[in-house]
Amino acid sequence: MDLTFYGHSCFSVEIEGKKILFDPFISGNEFAKDIDINKIEADYILISHGHEDHILDVEAIAKNTGAKLVSNYEIINWFSAKGIENGHPMNHGGKWQFDFGVVRYVNAVHTSSMPDGSYGGNPGGFVIESKEGNFYFSGDTALTFDMKLIPLTCGRIDFCVFPIGDNFTMGFEDAVTAAEFVNCERVVGVHYDTFGYIEIDKEKAKHEFERNGKDLILPKIGETISL
Ligand code: NI
Ligand code: MN
Repeated sequence: MDLTFYGHSCFSVEIEGKKILFDPFISGNEFAKDIDINKIEADYILISHGHEDHILDVEAIAKNTGAKLVSNYEIINWFSAKGIENGHPMNHGGKWQFDFGVVRYVNAVHTSSMPDGSYGGNPGGFVIESKEGNFYFSGDTALTFDMKLIPLTCGRIDFCVFPIGDNFTMGFEDAVTAAEFVNCERVVGVHYDTFGYIEIDKEKAKHEFERNGKDLILPKIGETISL
């Protein structure tokens, strides 16, 4: 499966010819200034929670592409009120078969207000099961025992996408434990270095994963990797 990183927690994957974009925050990220949001293709936009550093470019990309939004009920309603009607609401513990695979909305320990201060439901993550592989994007979250349910309910996880920047989410040490909880060796690290509170020592983070028999993958912004 190809994964393209767009900076912060934004990435896309291509599964069965469908492009699935996660948590688009590009135009507000100075490190992603070479990415043109008008060139991003998407059939789906999956949104983990309502914070601006996860939804800033949803409206523009949804209007450009006609992509279907998938998120919690409150966030889908919030975008619907802005005229983006192509949405699929979910809530925690639920799964749905889309044309590229099964999506589950799973627990995250975080908060989820919208940029205008309105209620953004509870934050979540996604587990994607597809013919091309399974992966878990935790969204912004603390390390939580709930992660242990994921391999029990969803089976083998081929790779995870975890925040590693600390302060607002788990840091890389807890992300190693999270990978242990879901029995997964490969982690794509996101949500680090974008702004002051989440700057990390990347070499130290990689070493911590290696020391525990795991691989921390840190793609460059704009880079596409095969997983
Ligand atoms: Ni957040
Ligand atoms: Mn965030």
